[in-house]
Amino acid sequence: MSTASLLDLKTLTAENVGQLFSLADRLSAEKPPDREHFKNRRGLTAALVFFEASTRTRMSFETACVREGLAPVLLDGGSGSSLEKGETPEDTALNIAAMGPRLMIVRCDDKLDLAALERKLDIPVLNGGWGRRGHPTQALLDAYAITRRAGKISGQNVLLIGDIRHSRVAASHVELSRILGYNVAFCGPRDFLPASAEVPVFTTLREGLKWATAAMALRVQKERHSGTETGWNPQDWQLNSATAEALAKDALIMHPGPVNWGVELSEEIARDSRAIILDQVRGGVWVRQALIRRIMEEAE
Ligand code: CP
Repeated sequence: MSTASLLDLKTLTAENVGQLFSLADRLSAEKPPDREHFKNRRGLTAALVFFEASTRTRMSFETACVREGLAPVLLDGGSGSSLEKGETPEDTALNIAAMGPRLMIVRCDDKLDLAALERKLDIPVLNGGWGRRGHPTQALLDAYAITRRAGKISGQNVLLIGDIRHSRVAASHVELSRILGYNVAFCGPRDFLPASAEVPVFTTLREGLKWATAAMALRVQKERHSGTETGWNPQDWQLNSATAEALAKDALIMHPGPVNWGVELSEEIARDSRAIILDQVRGGVWVRQALIRRIMEEAE
């Protein structure tokens, strides 16, 4: 077990996150270090163990590892691996850890007990999206994107719209909001909301958007649906140029990706000056780089 692991956000303080964001700011302004800078890390690896599909998280962590002098080694989705012969995800991760990476980033479903796996390993384990439980680095990079654009995160009103019930991003924002002092509210059809919410719920998009300083649409996760969900009507719930009129002129439009264009967001909303969807992705590399730098410097 490693104290540098990040399975959720509960152990972070506002000061920790502030330092992480300051480092991310510095990294954003620097040229990526050349190979000589990290010559003491030559031959060192970071394992990216992705049992589920990913583009942003996987490639953002890969980029961050390369920039921090670690070679990423990747299990990507499990196809072509011994998972196909029946090896369990935990055994797979234990065997990859035995190859000596300095840290492991894992994306998995709820069935893998990531906390139990982490206790068996002596390297830091970072949650790269764990079922519906959480996606801590996504919440961090979202908060970082808001901070960069709005100047501060405390006191912001972040409205999460749509498929909250299946969202690990929503779970991590509820955690992070308590640490950083921002407000979270949910908004969506009843079948897309959790059975009980720990935060305020708006029953119409318009009311939610009038409250929000940042409106984050979430992907409708059809692959996690039972097929009985009802109530998703783009006219009621889609963020588009008409519905976004209820949003303040200086509010932000966000999405963690991947976007179902035409479902939770209309295509034209990407060109709205308030949309910062690609800024979220851009800043995500610096935030993940900052996390890896902190872990490596503590280890060294
Ligand atoms: N936001 C996010 O986790 O995207 P990916 O599934 O592409 O990693």
